[in-house]
Amino acid sequence: MNKGDKDKLFFFDTTLRDGEQSPGASMSVKEKLLVAEQLSTLGVDVIEAGFPISSREDFEAVKTISQHVKTSSIAGLSRAYEKDINACWDAVKNAKKPRIHIFLATSDLHIEKKLGKTREQVLDMAVRAVKYGKSLCKDIEFSAEDAGRSNVDFLCKIIEAVIDAGTNTINIPDTVGYSLPIEFGEKIDEIKKKVPNINKAIISVHCHNDLGLAVANSLSAIENGARQIECTINGIGERAGNASLEEIAMILKVKSQYHSFKHSIRTNEIYNTSKLVSRLTGISVQVNKAIVGANAFAHESGIHQDGILKARETYEIMTPNDVGVPESLLILGKHSGRHALFKRIKDLGYNKLESKTLEQIFEKFKVLAGKKKTIYDEDIIALVEEDTASGKEIFILDYLNATAGSRIIPTATVEILKNSDNKKTKPIIFRETAYGSGPVDAVYKAIDKIIDMDIKLTDFLLRAISSGEDALGEVILKVEYKGIIYSGKGTSTDIVEASAKAYIQAINKAKLSDNNI
Ligand code: KIV
Ligand code: ZN
Repeated sequence: MNKGDKDKLFFFDTTLRDGEQSPGASMSVKEKLLVAEQLSTLGVDVIEAGFPISSREDFEAVKTISQHVKTSSIAGLSRAYEKDINACWDAVKNAKKPRIHIFLATSDLHIEKKLGKTREQVLDMAVRAVKYGKSLCKDIEFSAEDAGRSNVDFLCKIIEAVIDAGTNTINIPDTVGYSLPIEFGEKIDEIKKKVPNINKAIISVHCHNDLGLAVANSLSAIENGARQIECTINGIGERAGNASLEEIAMILKVKSQYHSFKHSIRTNEIYNTSKLVSRLTGISVQVNKAIVGANAFAHESGIHQDGILKARETYEIMTPNDVGVPESLLILGKHSGRHALFKRIKDLGYNKLESKTLEQIFEKFKVLAGKKKTIYDEDIIALVEEDTASGKEIFILDYLNATAGSRIIPTATVEILKNSDNKKTKPIIFRETAYGSGPVDAVYKAIDKIIDMDIKLTDFLLRAISSGEDALGEVILKVEYKGIIYSGKGTSTDIVEASAKAYIQAINKAKLSDNNI
């Protein structure tokens, strides 16, 4: 702990790790880097970038983020095994401030049923893991998984031992969201009182939202001495999610008379961060979600509207501006020029795009503005994302024609350009036609004939991503190829085209990883 850290509350964001464990969430390495850059602009102290041993993509993401994001600490998650810790260190070692986050279960239920061990064995394993981690990295966090249901005396014993072994941050997770604020606060208080060397480490908490109490439990913990909060943007995470960063940050701001901690969150970056995370993970924010839901600042009833017009404070405890919602959203359309578009892209948090990329986005913007009267933030994010997420393309959709109706057999013809690995050879055009149970099925069957890969569609989601009759449709899907799952996203004003784009994106990822093996 540094001097002056006593009154500081550290924000540890785990959107890219626990948040990524949300059902349906999946981001590419490039997308994770975009989120990490925005988290650092938001001011989080620690970014948990992933779980490096869990997959090659996770390892790459943690490594890439460690190389590029320099203001926040970058943590990787690791089980208490040397092979995990080695992979984690390999992924984070180039960060300016690397952290290894080791976790091991401490509740009797997990120790006996999941690990098949005794308390003594777990204690020994934890100490060895922390000592090993410390020999590689000076910043170690230890998480006592299922601490919410762990015996407090054993918890205190293991905490004391891992602090002696070199842990800098001791994390107390309520892994299954089982605690009440009063219980959880008492647990933190007991740990503070009973662990003799507790002042050598920062107490952290990591609360899940199974009973809707993640934020309340986190607050109770800081009232009792915790100084790091683990949370996610939009509260996403395993099952019902994690404590939501934006709710905690705004509670601290609105109720500063009760919580006078120093912290480094820039609340006016909340809106951009929330939008970015929801777009890239594909997990939409419920409309009535506190702070970032679409209705969070909307006043419907006449009495409320009247009150707001007379004095905002009558029905508003914070302003849209506090969380960075632009006062008047600049409406973009076909008459908007480069300058307006580039400014909005920057305001949305994409401030590191090269001018060549911006020009490409502008070209696509003009095409879209020809089809759609109003271009919303969601549309712009989709354009930016399409450009930055597509990566190397082997197959490119060049032409698509699909017909369907109540009395005809759905038919599709597609033309695909196939790039070869050899840059000197020109791409080859393939054309195929197929029938299907619907237009999308027909398109996929025609694509399958061209790509000649054993691809299986496992998940398909279609939704509108902006408002109005001419809203953009987005398709998020997953395919399985050689036992590995690949995701794809596609947007268009035409849902059949969006479906084709998403399918091709997933196929390209599968083909590329095939070529790399
Ligand atoms: O919920 C949990 O216990 C976790 C740990 C790995 C910190 O996510
Ligand atoms: Zn968790």
